[in-house]
Amino acid sequence: MTIALERKKSDKLAAVGGVGIRTKLLDITAKLDDVVLMGRGDPDLPTPPHIIEAAKRALDNGATHYTHVRGNIELRRAIAEKLKRDNNLDYDPETEIMVTVGAEEAVFLAMYALLNEGDEVLVCEPRYTSYDEAILMWGGKPVVVPCDPDEDFLFKPENIRKAITPRTKVISLVNPGNPIGMLDPEVVEEIAKIAIEHDLIVISDEIYENIIFDGTKHLSMAAVPGMRERTITVNGPSKSYAMTGWRCGFLAAPAPICEMLTEPAHTIAICCPAVTQAAALAAYTGPQEPVRQMREIYNERRVMMMKALDEMGLKYVNPRAGFYLFTDVTSLGMDPETFCTRLLQEARVLVFPGSLFADPTNRFVRISLLSPTARIEEAIRRMKQFVASVKA
Ligand SMILES: Cc1ncc(COP(=O)(O)O)c(C=O)c1O
Repeated sequence: MTIALERKKSDKLAAVGGVGIRTKLLDITAKLDDVVLMGRGDPDLPTPPHIIEAAKRALDNGATHYTHVRGNIELRRAIAEKLKRDNNLDYDPETEIMVTVGAEEAVFLAMYALLNEGDEVLVCEPRYTSYDEAILMWGGKPVVVPCDPDEDFLFKPENIRKAITPRTKVISLVNPGNPIGMLDPEVVEEIAKIAIEHDLIVISDEIYENIIFDGTKHLSMAAVPGMRERTITVNGPSKSYAMTGWRCGFLAAPAPICEMLTEPAHTIAICCPAVTQAAALAAYTGPQEPVRQMREIYNERRVMMMKALDEMGLKYVNPRAGFYLFTDVTSLGMDPETFCTRLLQEARVLVFPGSLFADPTNRFVRISLLSPTARIEEAIRRMKQFVASVKA
């Protein structure tokens, strides 16, 4: 028997919308051989072996049950130490840190706890649009702060000021960003000033903190004086330790905020998997050399791709951070979705159009650097041929 699903499904789902071009590209990819995958934001590099070993040992020792809803206290202590060491932040592991199922759950919980119907959340463009869904699901409204492609699309404090209304409650900050780069510490301080002046909360996603290049400095929002009380810091090992599939993240926030999130976290997932928490503990307490080595590999690929794009005559946003090159393809006389479809069909290279990341200009594609280096070299060879054939 079939049911009339249209009448059963919730209105919230309608707000969230369809999957469109991403599914189309992935469907084409599934039917082709030998595609170089440069679409998703999932590191190709393996999780470092000492982390995997720790997880195996934990399984042998019975890490197969629920843990505390906010995570094992050993892991929360290790996260508190990491936050002190790397970010100059002080959080009490007992009451101010919550381990989550990826950074994703942390943001979902934060939006749940903060938003009432019609509350406005300031977001940049382009951006990691997955958080739009969390905002919409809880009845909030993403309000775009215009960002200028000629200034690498980075948040501009004066534009944030202009976007504030009496309903503004939250600034959603992803710094370092995806698919764009990184804010200078002075800009973070300017944004903090605005948040304090207008009594706003900042949800600060810092998951790319270790994927930064060219000597840039990352400043955690909560480390700016006056911001700790109004910041929810979101982070996790997914990107820094190539641990996307383990599903671990965390948030750090003042105790009353953590307290508010505890029951919802229990309802959503009960806890982050115990074995994953053991792996994350090894990541944060073990050698940090693999993080540096991975950054070196990403940098090598980044430099290689920048040189190739220069040779192809394609412009891109300054990639001071992250795994991505946000590249303008309009000089080839086609829109980004056509470019991605043709590049996939004709050259067997998968990249995603900027529309998936709320590109306001409809000019860009996102090239991710997360295939083995030799495959990226192959992708460059194919892209050059494709671009030459288009220009011919
Ligand atoms: C900015 C940003 N935050 C969070 C995530 C997801 O993190 P996690 O895998 O820890 O849920 C991603 C994944 O691409 C991301 O780009």
